[in-house]
Amino acid sequence: MSLIIPEYIKALDPYKPGNQRREAAFKHDVKMVFSLASNENPIGTSTKVIQAIMDSVSGIGLYPDPASTDLVAALAAKFDKNPNQIVCGHGSESLMAHIVNAFSDINERVLTSRGTFAGIYVKTHKNGRKLNRVPLLNYGYDLEKLLTRIHPNTRIIYISNPNNPTGTMIPKAELDWFLAQIPDNILIVLDEAYSYYAAQHEGYVNGLQYDMPNLIVLQTLSKTHGLAGLRVGYAIGPEELINTLYKVKLPFEPSLLAQKAAVAALSDDEFLNETIRINSISIKMFLALFDKLGIKYANPYANFVMIIMESEQFAADFCKHTFEHGVSVRNCKPFGLANCVRISTGTEEQTEYACQVFEHAYNDMINNINN
Ligand SMILES: Cc1ncc(COP(=O)(O)O)c(C=O)c1O
Repeated sequence: MSLIIPEYIKALDPYKPGNQRREAAFKHDVKMVFSLASNENPIGTSTKVIQAIMDSVSGIGLYPDPASTDLVAALAAKFDKNPNQIVCGHGSESLMAHIVNAFSDINERVLTSRGTFAGIYVKTHKNGRKLNRVPLLNYGYDLEKLLTRIHPNTRIIYISNPNNPTGTMIPKAELDWFLAQIPDNILIVLDEAYSYYAAQHEGYVNGLQYDMPNLIVLQTLSKTHGLAGLRVGYAIGPEELINTLYKVKLPFEPSLLAQKAAVAALSDDEFLNETIRINSISIKMFLALFDKLGIKYANPYANFVMIIMESEQFAADFCKHTFEHGVSVRNCKPFGLANCVRISTGTEEQTEYACQVFEHAYNDMINNINN
């Protein structure tokens, strides 16, 4: 007798990472090899985090605190929230999966956009829920269209602000208007993986400013706080919704070292400020290059720039060329934007080298078209 696997599970594809730096290092004899493909922190991790991990490592024979009490307290103090409004998880993606699980039933609907974070598509499908997606408008969310697609079975609306992979953000006035239109029986998930970067820009507002019974904000320490490899995210929302998430989350996520590291990371403003400073420099350098070459891009509010190329083939060739010169970037085809490429920010040295590689690749490709 063979196992019965649900059709909606059979239809899933395993995750394909954007990050292939080791492959590049082995295959090609190049000056530098690094990834600008996964929106990671190019300056790594705070020394305070490393110290906290060293200090805690002898404790890993024990299970961690299931309520992440110290981490929740640090987040509550930082955001001026009640600890009962916060739950931590094994990355914000883990919490996203728990949200779909807890707040919708099989065959009910999750409404979002095309060209947004693919994690929400996967979490929706793997739970046997239905996915509704509206097209992007000028590489940002089409909020008016989203409202028209609300169905009696819509249980969750997912918004990534800033959006991955386009990097665009929804300004406060538009978000105010949109949130006011959503009925109370639909959960809004505001995914703010890049909120610390966006906060540098006028007009951005994070979801923690809204007091709504049906809003959960997701944030992560993977990006600005340099903990991608440890996996720590948190959800902030009304107590009743957070209590519900505690029922479905894995009891011991995040891990013991992740909790300790996260508390240390939240205390290191110097590292955070340096991250943001390097990010602004890298973004400026990339935009200057793209302007010079006449490459179009979506306005960036996070730690990456999405460039818009002439065709799907052009984008694929660009990724291949840059990879062969040691710089891995993200082809946006899996996001449904086949003519676009997402480029994460790097250190100044990495960005300088990447700019040389991009310019060379682009000019070569244009020459090939013209000859
Ligand atoms: C919009 C968005 N949400 C969530 C995540 C996942 O974050 P985490 O590492 O906390 O799971 C990412 C990671 O790239 C992202 O871009």
